[in-house]
This record gives sequence, C-alpha cells and structure tokens, in this order.
Amino acid sequence: MKLAIIGGTGLANMEGLEVVRREVVHTPFGEPSAPLTHGRLEGAEVVFLPRHGSGHTIPPHQINYRANMWAIRHAGVDWVIAVAATGGIREDMGPGVVAIPDQIIDYTWGRDHTFYEHDLTHVTHVDFTDPYCEALRQGLIQAGRAAGIGLVEDGAYGVTQGPRLETAKEIERLKRDGCDLVGMTAMPEAGLARELDLCYATCSVVANWAAGLSGEAITMQGIRHNLEEGMLKVEALIRRLLGDLTK
Ligand code: HPA
Repeated sequence: MKLAIIGGTGLANMEGLEVVRREVVHTPFGEPSAPLTHGRLEGAEVVFLPRHGSGHTIPPHQINYRANMWAIRHAGVDWVIAVAATGGIREDMGPGVVAIPDQIIDYTWGRDHTFYEHDLTHVTHVDFTDPYCEALRQGLIQAGRAAGIGLVEDGAYGVTQGPRLETAKEIERLKRDGCDLVGMTAMPEAGLARELDLCYATCSVVANWAAGLSGEAITMQGIRHNLEEGMLKVEALIRRLLGDLTK
C-alpha cells in the first residue's frame, strides 16, 4: 500500500519525511504542481506533492489538478490524504479545528475537471454519492482518537472558485445549502481521484471563520497563524495513521 499526501496552504513539506528521491513527472495533461517527493514516514512509503507548488505560487483556480492526480496514480499510489485550509461555517468549525469532511458541494467553474472527455469509446459517469473514501476517513478518525487529537469527524465542504474569499451573503447561501466548511481546492481534485479509483480523503484545517461570521476582516496573517497550530495536529494525525498501518 502506498500513500500520497497532497499538502495545502500551510503544509509545503512534511516534517519527519525521509526523502528518498524527487521525481519530475510529465503527464499527458501537463506538469504537476511540483516534482513528486518519494520518501518514508513512520516506516511507510509516501509520496508528497505540494498542491500550490514548492514555493506556494499556484492559486487554487490555476492548479493543474489532472496532472497532479495522474502523476500520483502513475506513482503506484492507492491512498491519498489531501490536506486543505478552509474557512469554518458550522459552529464547531472554529479556527484551528481539524475536520475530516464527508461531503462536498462544488461551486467551482472553468476548471479541467475530468479525465473522461477525449477519445472516448463510451460516456462514463462515476458514482460520487459519497465523495470521500470511507475506509481512509475512518482510518484518520481512529488515528485521531488514538492519538488524542480532537477532530470534527464530518462536514460538508463547499468548494468556491477563489482566489478571492467569499462575500458575507455567499457564506449565508453556502450555509443554507448545508456547507459546514468552505475552501477552494477539494474540486475537481476529489472527483478526479474517484475517476482514477484512488481512495481519497481530506484533512481540513480551519484557518478562519468564513466571511461575515466573526465580524472581523479575514487577513492572511490570521490565516497563517491559525494554520500553524492546525497543521501540527494534521502532521501528528498522519504520522499516527501511518505508524498504525505499518505496525
Ligand atoms: N474561504 C475559502 N477558502 C478558504 C478560506 C475561506 O474563508 N479560508 C481558507 N481557505
């Protein structure tokens, strides 16, 4: 079993990863965000890819999600943990919280979002009723419980286009729609993972209250501060999961 970690904002590299090699991958869909880092973490074989590039320069709407997921699949990966910074909407999703969402609502547009569009012999519709891999979600939840890392174990992730943050009314609408978190990268990433039959789950770190919910402006400085705390929890969670798997 090989696992990939897609690092989001606040997680440009994985603490404790023993790097074995870096691999520049060219895919039929173009270049991934960065070379793949192959290494070992807690005795497990791991591939790490920073979603926004090595220097955090690629905004959410310009990420080549197809190249990223194709490269990960090509590396022989079965499981993918996607780390993502989000804004919190539900009352229990305050800054610093780590959540393992179980649903997605997609508000993105204009992104290359499928592998099924050229040279088709038949039209394919993948089942996406449950967008996340429940086995991996449960693995993360159990690891969190075992390590005493408080997690929110569910949540609907609303995916906006970005890179701007939302208006207060947009967040009110997302809330009415049933979104508990808001971020910019879960789609098309999760959909492409399903098309490639990858077992994919998200570890979301809440960086801020979503627009209009705290009465304060959302600043990059505040986001960075809250992510630091949350990413330490995510790293501990992933190490625990891998340690348990390789025991
Ligand atoms: N909205 C969308 N994406 C985000 C946010 C937010 O408030 N915070 C971090 N990523």
